[in-house]
Amino acid sequence: MWPYPKIIAHRGGGTLAPENTLAAMRCGMQYGFRAVEFDVMLSGDGVPVLMHDPQFGRTVPGKGRVAETLAKDLAAMDAGAWFGSRFAGEPVPTFEEVVRFCKQNRIWMNVEIKPSPGTDEQTGHVVAETTARLFGDELDARAGLADLPLFSSFSFDALAAAHRAAPGIPRGFLVDTIPGDWQARLQALDASALHTNHKNLTAMQAHAVKDAGYGLFCYTVNDAARAKDILAWGVDAFCTDRIDLIGPGFSGG
Ligand code: G3P
Ligand code: MG
Repeated sequence: MWPYPKIIAHRGGGTLAPENTLAAMRCGMQYGFRAVEFDVMLSGDGVPVLMHDPQFGRTVPGKGRVAETLAKDLAAMDAGAWFGSRFAGEPVPTFEEVVRFCKQNRIWMNVEIKPSPGTDEQTGHVVAETTARLFGDELDARAGLADLPLFSSFSFDALAAAHRAAPGIPRGFLVDTIPGDWQARLQALDASALHTNHKNLTAMQAHAVKDAGYGLFCYTVNDAARAKDILAWGVDAFCTDRIDLIGPGFSGG
């Protein structure tokens, strides 16, 4: 059983806004989405911020590494101009700012823990601890799963650290291709879901994951026909860049 929304806006606003910014979250909302995926990385001083690439050059200009840059300097960087002049000056948001925005607007979050190389455990630990603090009321009240975010990560070590730091926040193990030992990995993480690249998923694998009782999430599905196919295989949810083509109410039917 999948307690979360089915269609999720990738990196906030998919390809319609600069990824991993508050402007992207607002864009997703304008298209009716109340569910987002975004990437979280640590600054040099250990503050979780929204960022996909460990180095600058694509979404923020210049050279340098996120893991060697202070949070206050990241906050002053322009994460919007690369996408279009109307987004110029859009800052790199902290994870905490984005969580507050999402909670205020009742947006469900798939928090992808994205460690810079060599920081897997630390990133998993800090993101989980921050999340547990921001969702303290929900955790204390034993809120339903839909009121809590879902962590995911390609890093097994980051998820294991998140599990230790905040066992009450569920986890999905994220893979590009489903490995032979997927079930042992999910068990070791006490994970509730497998997140995988739809391009490498087969109907047989989808059935195996569902038969084993796990949630199954796919990234990043931008074609309605493909979305319909994988939903028919039993895929529970997916994120999309094409929030203009595949809306929050898409069912494939
Ligand atoms: O979480 C799903 C998806 O976002 C994983 O790939 O590179 O877009 O973060 P990436
Ligand atoms: Mg991601």
